[in-house]
Amino acid sequence: MCGIVGIVGSRSVAPLIVDALKRLEYRGYDSAGVATFVDGKLDRRRAEGKLVNLEARLADDPLPGKTGIGHTRWATHGAPVEVNAHPHFSDGVAVVHNGIIENFRELREELEADGFSFASQTDTEVVAHLVAKGLRDGLDAKGAAGAAVSRLRGAYALAIMFGGDDGLIVGARHGPPLAIGHGGDEMYLGSDAVALAPFTNQITYLEDGDWAIVRRHSVEIFDADANPVERKIDVSTGAAIVVDKGNHRHFMHKEMYEQPEVIGHTLANYVDFNEQAVVLRDSGDASNPVDFAGLPRLNITACGTAYLAGFVSKYWFERHARLPVDIDVASEFRYREAPLQDGGLSLFISQSGETADTLAGLKYCADEGQHIASIVNVRESTMARASHSVFPTLAGPEIGVASTKAFTCQLTVLASLAIATGVQRGHIDRATEARLVGELSEAPRYATDALKMEEQIRTLAHDLAGKKHVLYLGRDTNYPLAMEGALKLKELSYIHAEAYAAGELKHGPIALVDDEMPVVVIAPHDRIFEKTVSNMQEVAARGGQIILITDQRGAEEAGMETSRTIIMPDMPELVTPIVYSVPVQMLAYHTAVHMGTDVDQPRNLAKSVTVE
Ligand code: AGP
Repeated sequence: MCGIVGIVGSRSVAPLIVDALKRLEYRGYDSAGVATFVDGKLDRRRAEGKLVNLEARLADDPLPGKTGIGHTRWATHGAPVEVNAHPHFSDGVAVVHNGIIENFRELREELEADGFSFASQTDTEVVAHLVAKGLRDGLDAKGAAGAAVSRLRGAYALAIMFGGDDGLIVGARHGPPLAIGHGGDEMYLGSDAVALAPFTNQITYLEDGDWAIVRRHSVEIFDADANPVERKIDVSTGAAIVVDKGNHRHFMHKEMYEQPEVIGHTLANYVDFNEQAVVLRDSGDASNPVDFAGLPRLNITACGTAYLAGFVSKYWFERHARLPVDIDVASEFRYREAPLQDGGLSLFISQSGETADTLAGLKYCADEGQHIASIVNVRESTMARASHSVFPTLAGPEIGVASTKAFTCQLTVLASLAIATGVQRGHIDRATEARLVGELSEAPRYATDALKMEEQIRTLAHDLAGKKHVLYLGRDTNYPLAMEGALKLKELSYIHAEAYAAGELKHGPIALVDDEMPVVVIAPHDRIFEKTVSNMQEVAARGGQIILITDQRGAEEAGMETSRTIIMPDMPELVTPIVYSVPVQMLAYHTAVHMGTDVDQPRNLAKSVTVE
């Protein structure tokens, strides 16, 4: 996902913009650039790779100017090379963009026929030429920007500068977020509040379709119909949060170790520890709360790790609340035209709250009249603002691209919701609620115990590091957790990994098993443990290298030679998906570290995928 920063300032802005872009590095990128207004015209510096390369370019060839825009690019159209890096220019116009212009090809043909020549392979460059065309046709900056934006189809957050007007940036938003920062003697634009934290915590989030005229001491905001609108100024938490690694080697490592604390913070927002009861604090529209008692059905939609959190919760909602659950990956759901039950609840799970596919699923369900609820880690996100009910995770900013603490906090919220749903639907009595809440309240302590196993897991990871393929197996709530383990290994170490329901192995995948194939089995000693033991025996009989993640009783009863057994603390079944996430994360993390991959920003990945 690309990052945008703009400053209409009173001092040399290029170094400030680069520093702000560094706070967006977690989003993933492969080139960067900055443009400023210098002596009546626009100038720019761009570089492939990381921001240090852009800083070197600026050191060699400084860029003065008190108005500027900057960008970190995650390539969608065109290779990650300097000529495709933003800002893109055209006749006195500079543009940076996050998103995808879906009709860029037809616009490019029209503009080339109109005499504009293209220097890049990007979709973004059409925006620069469209604005330049408007200026050439006699429109002013505002008119030219509005005319250009009206031609675009797709998703965009834009910042536009004009060679004829120092002290002006036009921002526009349709899909990916764009925030305005209010300073004392400067104004700012940014992809999120974290980027603007060094400058201000006074943040205005543009709504979908909004665009803004930003000057040094003022901002005018217009809606999609060009009507002037007022948008509120929030005091952002992004400004208060110092985002650094502390004494950890990677953000991901820091965030794995934050899990006991943030699981506890999240729990405190959903349970009364004294009463041992769930207290749902819906931070959405309190006048329109979710009525779990009368729900006919629940559909859950998300992507990636967030989807797997939802998949775990399907077992909880159906087992404890007898509520039928449909679970979908958003990229499929958004086009499936699913028939939805009147009066149903559509729940969306997202760390960023900005994932395009998930937002598209939300819009479908909203159009179908569903009650919309979201579990998000960014309270000011688009998804939260589009929901009737919001159940935040309190994980704090998650910088590592591979999701860890957000996942375990999502599970914590989902377990709380499942218990509350069971109570409201009459399937969980008071004593059972107290028991389940008591068990859930112990999750932070169990997670702390699990973290203490890092050294054993690190050693084990070295064996995985040299492998080409790995299988993950689990049953019940450990099946989606096995899927999460496979996803973590793939996205961090680039090793191919697949997960299967353990009982499914004999229906084909067992053909993969040989003495080169590590098989990670996630199996606490629960009511179906012996079924999983049978599956492990099938694997062992074919020479498969079993790595078993279980508890003491499971280790004793497994009754077979495993290449490694990770013995977890004994704990109630309800919390095993939350706590067993720790060794699953650690295994992938240390495999990746051993292999030398970019753990916090793995190749090809972005922290939040705000494009299709
Ligand atoms: C998780 O490790 C991945 N980075 C990815 O699958 C992620 O979970 C997915 O893109 C959804 O992101 P979201 O939670 O911000 O919507």
